[in-house]
Amino acid sequence: MGATNESGLVELRSVRKSFGDNVVLNDIDLSIGHGEAIVVAGPSGSGKSTMLRCINGLETIDGGEIHFAGAPLPRGGKELQRARSRIGMVFQQFNLFPHMTVLQNITLGPVRIKDVPQDQAKKRGLELLERVGIPEKADQVPADLSGGQQQRVAIARALAMDPELMLFDEPTSALDPEMIREVLDVMRQLARDGMTMVVVTHEMGFAREVCDRIVFIDEGVIVEQGPPAEFFANAQSERAREFVDKIIHH
Ligand SMILES: Nc1ncnc2c1ncn2[C@@H]1O[C@H](COP(=O)(O)OP(=O)(O)OP(=O)(O)O)[C@@H](O)[C@H]1O
Ligand SMILES: [Mg+2]
Repeated sequence: MGATNESGLVELRSVRKSFGDNVVLNDIDLSIGHGEAIVVAGPSGSGKSTMLRCINGLETIDGGEIHFAGAPLPRGGKELQRARSRIGMVFQQFNLFPHMTVLQNITLGPVRIKDVPQDQAKKRGLELLERVGIPEKADQVPADLSGGQQQRVAIARALAMDPELMLFDEPTSALDPEMIREVLDVMRQLARDGMTMVVVTHEMGFAREVCDRIVFIDEGVIVEQGPPAEFFANAQSERAREFVDKIIHH
């Protein structure tokens, strides 16, 4: 684990990923700074989810390199598991264990994977539930919660592992409109607290207000990237302009 002089928490260099003949990530270069909040935007099928999955080792890459916290992301085995325990991921579908209480869902990872004592994990779990605004739900099962509440539990569960990086893949896409805000509010606070975040979302209001940089992907290529104000007002590429028009006027 030699320290390197690179600055980013995550570095993608010429990352390539194909499924059969389908080149899904085509020479992706991306540096994600400590404490940076990035929104990844782009049309359906452009490779956004695949890129997130490669960053936390759910997919292997076919070419290039991914570095996390100054070391190459391990390709498999215990080393990859260890690296992945430092990266939180939140999906569109919350994937909570239905037969466990909210608090049990949150304490499971720390207890099993990090050997945190049960009572300590519980204490921290309750703090996290407080932080995402639903301390009163600790002893209920996921089915008794709204979608927005379940997604906040999923965020608390990821945070319970004390991740250095949080990846969000369309965390509000499955939610009714009135529940979207409460989830985005939690994410906004997380960004303010300095968490390094990569968020795939179509919520351009969130992008505009919260993120430091928008990365626009199309057909597996980063077409352009920049601060949100610049991206919305003055996208450089035709494809990004079309995308912004569509999303703002739909
Ligand atoms: N496991 C897989 N096997 C085969 N092809 C896949 C697999 N996962 C993704 N793909 C293909 O890779 C391409 C990119 O998919 P990906 O899910 O990364 O897109 P996306 O940008 O997240 O799209 P969306 O906005 O619809 O979620 C698509 O053509 C998809 O069909
Ligand atoms: Mg996707």
